[in-house]
Amino acid sequence: MEKIEVPLHEAYRLLTPGWVVLVGSQKDQKYNIMTASWQMPVSIKPPLVSVSIQKRHLTTEYIQATGAFTVNVPGYDILAIAHYCGSISGRDTDKFEATGLTPVPGKKVPAPLVAECLAGIECRVWQTYDGGDHFIFVGEVMAAAAAPGHFEKHWRLDRGKENYPFSHIGGSVYIIPGVMISISKQGKELVPLEKPLAK
Ligand SMILES: Cc1cc2nc3c(=O)[nH]c(=O)nc-3n(C[C@H](O)[C@H](O)[C@H](O)COP(=O)(O)O)c2cc1C
Repeated sequence: MEKIEVPLHEAYRLLTPGWVVLVGSQKDQKYNIMTASWQMPVSIKPPLVSVSIQKRHLTTEYIQATGAFTVNVPGYDILAIAHYCGSISGRDTDKFEATGLTPVPGKKVPAPLVAECLAGIECRVWQTYDGGDHFIFVGEVMAAAAAPGHFEKHWRLDRGKENYPFSHIGGSVYIIPGVMISISKQGKELVPLEKPLAK
């Protein structure tokens, strides 16, 4: 396959997308949320997930203050709100107040969950890695909950629902899942599952 060079600082775009998430954090009694697409599962046992957050973000200050954060999975019904939460800092605006999103105190960690999201994971910072202009916060999963019906067997995305997680392509462009396919038993064919994911 012929290829053309990609600028180094944009190479990460070749790895897009993963689900966009809302990272919840807290300092003293103040809550904040920010949008993040650089999230990654890390380990099953112990259960670890990670987020990569710019050092200068208020979220970094809050996570460092409490050693905790939440990872919330929005559906595309609140995509525009998620975009907004990724465009302004909690230093300037109370994003919960501005968006009408509902903070729910974490059950296990001092960080807010977002009631309107499809799923939420509560994390205690397990390890922090220097990631250049970002910190990679690896969080130990202390609690996790998902909206009934939106995820099926083993908490995989349910193809029958009308609201889905989404990914960020770049700028103001997002993608929502289209067709879900399965590999045939012989391992050779791609079999579309009956119900399309998005209208
Ligand atoms: C779709 C989207 C994805 C983003 N992903 C990340 C990310 O993974 N890490 C990051 O540090 N910033 C990311 N941002 C930028 C932050 O959300 C943004 O700078 C935010 O204003 C920081 O908020 P805070 O200062 O309240 O923490 C993203 C923004 C958007 C719109």
